[in-house]
Amino acid sequence: MRRKFRHALMFLVVLAAMQALLSGCAQEPETPAAPVAETPAAPGVVNLYTSRHYGVEPVFAEFTKETGIEVRFTTGSDAALRERIKAEGRHTPADIFMAVDAGNLWLAAQDGLLQPVQSQVLSENIPVELRDPDNLWFGLTKRVRTIMYHPDRVSPEELSTYEALADPKWKGRLVMRPSTHAYTQSLVASMIAAHGEAGAEEIVRGWVANEPNLIDSDTRILETLAAGEADVAITNHYYLGRLLEANPAFPVKVFWANQQERGAHVNISGAGVTAYAPNRDNAVRFLEWLSSPSGQKLFADSNHEFPANPQVEPHPIIAGFGPFSPDPLSKAEYGRLQADAIKLLDRAGYR
Ligand code: FE2
Repeated sequence: MRRKFRHALMFLVVLAAMQALLSGCAQEPETPAAPVAETPAAPGVVNLYTSRHYGVEPVFAEFTKETGIEVRFTTGSDAALRERIKAEGRHTPADIFMAVDAGNLWLAAQDGLLQPVQSQVLSENIPVELRDPDNLWFGLTKRVRTIMYHPDRVSPEELSTYEALADPKWKGRLVMRPSTHAYTQSLVASMIAAHGEAGAEEIVRGWVANEPNLIDSDTRILETLAAGEADVAITNHYYLGRLLEANPAFPVKVFWANQQERGAHVNISGAGVTAYAPNRDNAVRFLEWLSSPSGQKLFADSNHEFPANPQVEPHPIIAGFGPFSPDPLSKAEYGRLQADAIKLLDRAGYR
């Protein structure tokens, strides 16, 4: 019996090795052609693994009210949730992986954790640069990582681009997020796309030479600016939206970066249907609803983000930041260049 088992196991190992050889080093996302879910479907339920947790309950409750489908969700870090889906394999209860940062969605796709969804509703509601080229994931909200400043200490005429923050005049005046955070990695990935590796590295070296204070929380970065302990920062726009909602006199202003060039760095939060989703139809319906005007309004406003669906108006606080032009680079590139960005940050001495 045991021997039979060992033989079967060896056969599987040899089969897997042959498959790996034939697939040419697995550069392409390995999406199962015909996923077979082994967790029994639960009618009227959709299960989410989500690293996005700000204000999601009222959004999910509204979906349940409109469709009768109950949303059950588990929160965790992006990496931990990806590992969990991987470990659970065909038996995963997760129908949807929801994440912040395109790099995290890209990694899930690369690991074969997501399945393609052909949906006319999603194709119409979500612009092409905000979704995976193979429809493995869809951006649902946009977040702009841009320049922030204290208006008593800096005038907007002194500001222009992310790159210009490498100028020695900003020495000792910057506060930024550490290299370990996906937000920094995606920004640097977009700079690699714009300038090539050598060009991007020179800019990052310039930032490092300015000895930025590195703080691993965008909220604390903005509070540091407000306290007058630094003059200029790079953060996501919605953290300022939140702080302004609590205190309309919060003394920090937004500067839309790179408006004369490629545009400001836009990232997404988004989601994809897992490869072995037990409740696939409900999962697709949930994503379609989130992309619709009513879903978008609730989901984006809950975190002061810009709706991915261009027909939907942003929350008044962030609309008040004024119009901007976004970097049109495909969000999939942030994932593709993430490993290069991490290495570059390390070489340049950005901790
Ligand atoms: Fe965030």
